[in-house]
Amino acid sequence: MTALNDLVRPDRYPRSSRYDPAWLVGLDMGPNPLWLLEDLARDLDLRPGMKVLDLGSGKGATSVFLAREYGVEVVAADWWIAAEEAAAVFAAAGVADRVTAVRTEAHVLPFEPESFDAVVSIDAFEYFGTADGYLPYLARFLRPGGQLGVATPGMTREVRDIGFVPAHVKRVVGWEAIAWHTPEWWRFQWEITELVDVTSARLQEDAWRDWLLWARVCAEVQPDGLKANQPVIDMLTEDGGEYLSFALVTARKK
Ligand SMILES: C[S@@+](CC[C@H](N)C(=O)[O-])C[C@H]1O[C@@H](n2cnc3c(N)ncnc32)[C@H](O)[C@@H]1O
Repeated sequence: MTALNDLVRPDRYPRSSRYDPAWLVGLDMGPNPLWLLEDLARDLDLRPGMKVLDLGSGKGATSVFLAREYGVEVVAADWWIAAEEAAAVFAAAGVADRVTAVRTEAHVLPFEPESFDAVVSIDAFEYFGTADGYLPYLARFLRPGGQLGVATPGMTREVRDIGFVPAHVKRVVGWEAIAWHTPEWWRFQWEITELVDVTSARLQEDAWRDWLLWARVCAEVQPDGLKANQPVIDMLTEDGGEYLSFALVTARKK
């Protein structure tokens, strides 16, 4: 219980701190998605009644948060997690009337053009969103003026500029780190399409510390947690914020 209490940090994440940390860790697929979303949402304008696509929603913690905190209607779309599994999370959280789970791959989204007021993606875009054609593909599902918000593992420098994946990162994530870009990379990648205006692109302050805290708590409280999390703990400890962070990027469709 003590370790879980470390995840309650009302000074920094007041909204997330109202959620049961045991519930959150039980849905773990990566570093605290509510902290990432709460921070990202500071750069978005989410209003009650909006229709929001939570893309790569995993087991659904962020979709519950979106529905409860911002009063939006959510489509929770994910590829690895069955819709029934996510739907059970939404029912148990009492938001089944406002959150719909859809199993889909991010390149074949089963939605009509311009169906969303916002698309939010937490710790998922790195898996499917870095190709040149992806932003133009995704933008067609936003209404004009609709918002896009992405929180994705990011680096303080482009791997391309460093010339190699730093050894402590490569040991844990291998080549996947080439999808971990700087906020400036995302800004250029999106703005050059002239389809959106980028409204903010920043590294999350002390993201590596948040990520480390999350990994430490998961190591302590999850069955077999140490085995799964120790490599990440070692990577982040060695890094100390030199390279690793999260990029928080928001944009509005023209
Ligand atoms: C690290 S998990 C994060 C899940 C959740 N957003 C969270 O923060 O807990 C990454 C998610 O991206 C989703 N994902 C990965 N590749 C995808 C793809 N090609 N299409 C749709 N979703 C994808 C996975 O299904 C997975 O749930």
